[in-house]
Amino acid sequence: MHLSTGILKSSLPAFIFFLLIQTSIAQNRPGAAFSPTDSIKVETLLSQMTLDEKVGQLSLFASGWEVTGPAMNTRYKQLIRDGKVGAILNASTPDYVKKLQKMAVEESRLKIPLLFGYDVIHGYRTIFPIPLGQAASWDLDAIEKADRIAAGEASAEGICWTFAPMVDISRDPRWGRVSEGAGEDPFLGSRIAEARVRGFQGTGYEDGRHILACAKHFAAYGDPMAGRDYNVVDISPASLYEYYLPPYKACVDAGVATVMTSFNEINGMPSTCNSWLLTDLLRKEWGFNGFVVTDWTSINELVEHGVAEDLKSAAELSLNAGVDMDMMGSTFLDYLPGLVKENKVKISDIDRAVRYILRAKIQVGLFDDPYRFCNQQREQSEIMTKESLEFARKLVSESCVLLKNDNRTLPVPQRVRTLAVIGPLGDAKKEMLGNWNAAGDWKNCITLLEGIRNKCKGSVNVSFEKGCNINDKDLSGIEAAVKLAQKADYVILALGESGEMSGEAASRSDIDLPGVQNQLADAVINSGKPTAVVLFNGRPLSISHLEAIAPAILETWFGGTQAGNGITDVLFGDVNPSGKITMSFPRNTGQIPVFYSRKNTGRPFKSDQPDEKYVSRYLDCPVTPLYPFGFGLSYTNFSYSGIKALVKGNEITVSASVTNTGERDGEEIVQLYIQDKVGSITRPLKELKGFKKLLIRKGQTVQVTFTLSADDLSFYHPDLKKYWEPGEFNAFVGGSSATVISATFRL
Ligand code: GLC
Repeated sequence: MHLSTGILKSSLPAFIFFLLIQTSIAQNRPGAAFSPTDSIKVETLLSQMTLDEKVGQLSLFASGWEVTGPAMNTRYKQLIRDGKVGAILNASTPDYVKKLQKMAVEESRLKIPLLFGYDVIHGYRTIFPIPLGQAASWDLDAIEKADRIAAGEASAEGICWTFAPMVDISRDPRWGRVSEGAGEDPFLGSRIAEARVRGFQGTGYEDGRHILACAKHFAAYGDPMAGRDYNVVDISPASLYEYYLPPYKACVDAGVATVMTSFNEINGMPSTCNSWLLTDLLRKEWGFNGFVVTDWTSINELVEHGVAEDLKSAAELSLNAGVDMDMMGSTFLDYLPGLVKENKVKISDIDRAVRYILRAKIQVGLFDDPYRFCNQQREQSEIMTKESLEFARKLVSESCVLLKNDNRTLPVPQRVRTLAVIGPLGDAKKEMLGNWNAAGDWKNCITLLEGIRNKCKGSVNVSFEKGCNINDKDLSGIEAAVKLAQKADYVILALGESGEMSGEAASRSDIDLPGVQNQLADAVINSGKPTAVVLFNGRPLSISHLEAIAPAILETWFGGTQAGNGITDVLFGDVNPSGKITMSFPRNTGQIPVFYSRKNTGRPFKSDQPDEKYVSRYLDCPVTPLYPFGFGLSYTNFSYSGIKALVKGNEITVSASVTNTGERDGEEIVQLYIQDKVGSITRPLKELKGFKKLLIRKGQTVQVTFTLSADDLSFYHPDLKKYWEPGEFNAFVGGSSATVISATFRL
């Protein structure tokens, strides 16, 4: 890289001292190794950049796609050549990325390489279950491995930055983006967030197979009013800290390289110009030292929010609040030079942003080799490998949640000789990827029908009828479906949503099965044949009607490339399901928000006083969800006993025995919850504080022990100070938030 050393000779001693300070700050985070020579590179480069080149580094533009393949619009290409672009998103494949990178490093004046970002959300070409599905595995190692594989594949095709993990906590399944996250709980969400940052970033970027991660969407995007995407978030500061901020903080503590601002406002202030959020909290309180990128044109949207009178004012507000890079808005590029000249933005703040971005480019190795992520050889040998596909299949099975299984309907009995697969999701290749499916090709997906036929070929006659479409009023296919069911020994009924009915801009006001699928279920189940429902969905569904009529229900989310094979492994008993939902399923939309860590209120409904009128209840629906957080059945059974809670100083040890009382081995996700019985403010009835996923052989009893410190029981007070309070606590251990045994202890 061309570096001018003139700046160094003049004030070397002070300069070196400055760098040593810079470096020591930079190195207080894992994966952020930054050497003094790196700092020299950054400062030297900065000293050579024009104002236009500096604001260019703060600008991120998207590649387009034409019939002939990826294409970059003319303006952006010229800006790259002029050194006025810092990063590109949605460009991939080694040839195309190399072409764009060449423009930057061979044609621009300072030859600064571009970052290439992409939404690698749940896989790159090998697509894994959607994140809400992976979360249901509670398997942190598997989740980390999935993102490591994703990073390996993406980094072979030019990508060095992913806009993931999405770590927005949400208690509202009307919001379509719950599919991208880990559910309703901040403790589990934080552990999964850490695992995902580790998966993408590893412990450094030396191997060229790890990429910059991005904690999004900062912050509290998952709590939109009415579950409507992009809507207002109005929340008490204590709740914001207690329930919504922890996973972002977990990402920062895990060394996440970037953070993305959310579209929403928080209590009147949009995140993208929220200096309390981006500077006071993220930088000063949490010590984040990566860079902050906005979401797509979220700076421009400050005009719609009504906090900026025009785009120039929007750019001023955002840069001054702590934003470093403008995604797709072109507001920094267009307005920051003028704002500096008008003294409305300080050049030192622009330099701050440029430093963070240049550091990231150095850290990920682009200055050493701008083409290191354009690797045809790796593209040929490391993408969709046999091992990756086998792991994907295993993760599909681990993500499945058995919601109901009356009379051992599942696994499919070995005596079955004719099997009917019925339903709009039964052979739906394009739906298996779910939303945000990166470079995944739906043509590579194994559908449920294909998975079952792979398993049954030669031994079972497998037929298929769609029965109805996913989301329309056409009833004409139901008759043929019923006829097929009547001729079969066993029926697999594949129901749910389309992949695009969840994800961004996909809120639903009614989250029951769409279209006429309930009518199809009624007709097929009335045939009287043993029937197992397989659900494909990107959010909890309020399937109260289906729950009442279906003998068995297996939740499979959108499983990705290996969906059909992984689900089939569970359906036929090759894998014993172990998944547990991480977001409550409401009985109907009217119950929302319904979540396990609820407060008691002064007039709680009590199941032993069902006729009590003046309590917190509905006239037409129970207060409990259809399926509670942490719930999932197995083909075996587990019983819990002998819980003890022992306090020694400020350490609490909770132990219990778990016995596999069934006829086959199984994995159980043992959960630990705590209740602070009396506080200076009201406290939830339960809070998840630990979990362990254990293989327990049939007939075996294992002792499970959790160790907590008193600090693990601390909570945010109205003054936002976090501390625990002495008093009596309940400890709960069980296989779901609703099925526990308990012990009491005092601190
Ligand atoms: C979208 C999403 C964000 C994504 C970005 C880039 O609008 O909100 O999650 O990373 O744009 O595609």
